[in-house]
Amino acid sequence: MSKFLAPSILSADFSNLSGQLRYIEIAGADLIHCDIMDGQFVPNLTFGPLVVKAINKVTNLPLDIHLMIKNPDALIQDFVDAGAGYITVHQEEVTHLNRTLNNIKKLGAKAGVAINPATPIETLSEVLDIVDLVLIMSVNPGFGGQTFIHSSVDKIKKLNKLKMDSNLDFAIEVDGGINSKTIKEVSEAGCNIFVAGSSIFKADNITAAAAELKNLIS
Ligand code: DX5
Ligand code: ZN
Repeated sequence: MSKFLAPSILSADFSNLSGQLRYIEIAGADLIHCDIMDGQFVPNLTFGPLVVKAINKVTNLPLDIHLMIKNPDALIQDFVDAGAGYITVHQEEVTHLNRTLNNIKKLGAKAGVAINPATPIETLSEVLDIVDLVLIMSVNPGFGGQTFIHSSVDKIKKLNKLKMDSNLDFAIEVDGGINSKTIKEVSEAGCNIFVAGSSIFKADNITAAAAELKNLIS
């Protein structure tokens, strides 16, 4: 399976988003990771479908929507209408996960499920055959710039083994603390999609930082 770089705009300069997107496009970014936070599921607040729609107007890259919100079911249609390519919900928040994931697919987006560092991958065993991606959080969600939680590597290895043994084809995504020091290890563990926020957008040269990560996974 291919390896994709998904810069997270959480750490970008929001006063010049389209300019920031150009920098990562030039570097060969594959997806744009959008962190949607509601101040309830996580203690931080970001943006919603209106901003996602604006981003979609100024890029051709697929939008990877990470919903860290209460009751995500209520907003799935809005994010699809805003141009979402992937929509990922948290296992910890969704009661009828099978229904939610099938609904995302029915509405025309790729369906993802995320788990927090304290949530075991076993909680996903009954949906692995219907998801397009599994997002392993390698920090506790809510903020950019946190330190990578190393036990995530074993989780990714375990999930990748399960995927291979069962002949499944979902992508494995990692999110949190990904930089030039951590990306290789998660790549070797079986990751396909790499989210990186601060290591790209807080760098002096955004294009060079993204290109370096892209290079480390290819
Ligand atoms: C955290 C978000 C991440 C965040 C990652 O809740 O889901 O996508 O932007 O930021 P870094 O790469 O700085 O850890
Ligand atoms: Zn995220």
